[in-house]
Amino acid sequence: MTITYKDAEGIAGMRIAGRLAGELLDYLAPFIQPGVTTNEIDRLAEEHTTQVLRAISAPLNYAPGGHNPYPKSICTSINHQVCHGIPNDKPLKKGDIVNIDVTVLKDGWHGDSSRMYMVGEVSVAARRLCKLTYEAMWKGIMKVREGAYLGDIGHAIQSFAEGQGLSVVREYCGHGIGQKFHEDPQVLHYGKPGTLDQLKAGMVITIEPMLNVGRKDIKELGDGWTIVTKDHSLSAQWEHTVLVTPTGYEVLTLSANSPAMPEFVTPAAPAVALSAT
Ligand code: MF3
Ligand code: CO
Ligand code: CO
Repeated sequence: MTITYKDAEGIAGMRIAGRLAGELLDYLAPFIQPGVTTNEIDRLAEEHTTQVLRAISAPLNYAPGGHNPYPKSICTSINHQVCHGIPNDKPLKKGDIVNIDVTVLKDGWHGDSSRMYMVGEVSVAARRLCKLTYEAMWKGIMKVREGAYLGDIGHAIQSFAEGQGLSVVREYCGHGIGQKFHEDPQVLHYGKPGTLDQLKAGMVITIEPMLNVGRKDIKELGDGWTIVTKDHSLSAQWEHTVLVTPTGYEVLTLSANSPAMPEFVTPAAPAVALSAT
């Protein structure tokens, strides 16, 4: 296990990288329209990351053990694609839902975030899946504080998702993040309360549930990256990078146009309890 704990300087670096990842997703939003290709979105992302954010697209040429290097700057996963979809020349069409996953490397620190975008009018089922997956991510985020168990996060996500009739993808998970793109621990999106490692202040993790309308099973396409649902049912994912604090969490990948938090998200507990009056 190589969990890293960020000191004040690391937290400052992670705050900047995280905010830039959010800003990149903000920047891309207006371009996601019927007729645009995912290659065009990828080109815009690469240009914005290098020319405006003065940062590096961490996915480009990323090659974790055994994988062929990832060929693009972002991941674009459409409809039944679960994650790691590779941008191409096929235009988006009205009714598609697409996950855009960006990871910005700024001054040695990584910020990793993804959102769902709806292309024109989408079906009620697709909209419901996007909304519930967003809520599931926040159910997980709300468990984060020093002393909480990784199993608490997984359980919060799984129980919410399955309670809504959705299934949780098992093979891909959240992760520690910092000067490396993927660090320990693994952050499973299913599990049992009070199990697995306890969080400590200074850890930074991602929470990035992938939920399917149909069965949880997935398969990899021949390109060596794209993951799809085995039953071709719709899949959605949202991701934030989150700092563990003594009393709760700080979401590092928020930006000006981040979608509003769900109603059930309450502010983290104050550091010092207020006395009753
Ligand atoms: N951004 C993804 C994650 O959330 C990882 C993408 S790896 C890539 O962990 F190589 F496909 F970009
Ligand atoms: Co991630
Ligand atoms: Co990501």
